[in-house]
Amino acid sequence: MSVTGKSSGGGGRKNPRLHQKVKTARGRKTSSTKWLQRQLNDPYVQKARAKGYRSRAAFKIAELDDKFKFFRNNMAVVDLGAAPGGWSQVAVERCKGNSTVIALDLLQIDAIAGVTLLEMDFMDDDAPEQLCSHLPEGKADIVISDMAPNTSGTPSVDHLRIMGLVEAAAEFACEILKPNGSFVCKVWQGGADRDTLRALQKRFTKVRHAKPPSSRKDSAETFLVATGFKG
Ligand SMILES: C[S@@+](CC[C@H](N)C(=O)[O-])C[C@H]1O[C@@H](n2cnc3c(N)ncnc32)[C@H](O)[C@@H]1O
Repeated sequence: MSVTGKSSGGGGRKNPRLHQKVKTARGRKTSSTKWLQRQLNDPYVQKARAKGYRSRAAFKIAELDDKFKFFRNNMAVVDLGAAPGGWSQVAVERCKGNSTVIALDLLQIDAIAGVTLLEMDFMDDDAPEQLCSHLPEGKADIVISDMAPNTSGTPSVDHLRIMGLVEAAAEFACEILKPNGSFVCKVWQGGADRDTLRALQKRFTKVRHAKPPSSRKDSAETFLVATGFKG
């Protein structure tokens, strides 16, 4: 794992005997063939299937928790951008006892034991209220966000959308976290925008960027891990 945003690689070395090649079928675009080939040969996709996780993304939050130890028993967890549910599955596994997990996404999520599901846009005005109404005393111990907007193809528009989600998630976390709570959020490229980062540094004891091994080397994503909410 690289901390402060540097890539550390990962994904494992290719075994030539196991590596599968996909022929380009008539009608299938080269990009889809490449995507399919990468999926078939990705050890994390195979591991996710074997462990019953709904996404390879599950390993990203598991690896971040292995490093930063933010999940504990008896926690109230909010998972933003949760579909299809890999991060929530890991949260349920690692937060035992009297824990609550609320998962929100624009998309429908199939039921996960121990998780309350909300199908809505986090940017809707009433999303914070809806989330709070499902939390014990309206407060959370941790907010995790893997939200990623659909790309428009225009980099400047995509950048604004991404930063808008990060900023909104950070503001929400600062409103509903209990003292000593944590905020874990997917960000891109250089990390969170300077103002958001500065605001978080004031409100949390520690703010770090980390790229877990399961995050693809060629992906611009990185994760912000803020711990020790000061209230
Ligand atoms: C990378 S996926 C999340 C994967 C998930 N963490 C997992 O482990 O299965 C990103 C998700 O963010 C959701 N998303 C993007 N914008 C959103 C918004 N405004 N409100 C709620 N969800 C949003 C997308 O619908 C998508 O399901």
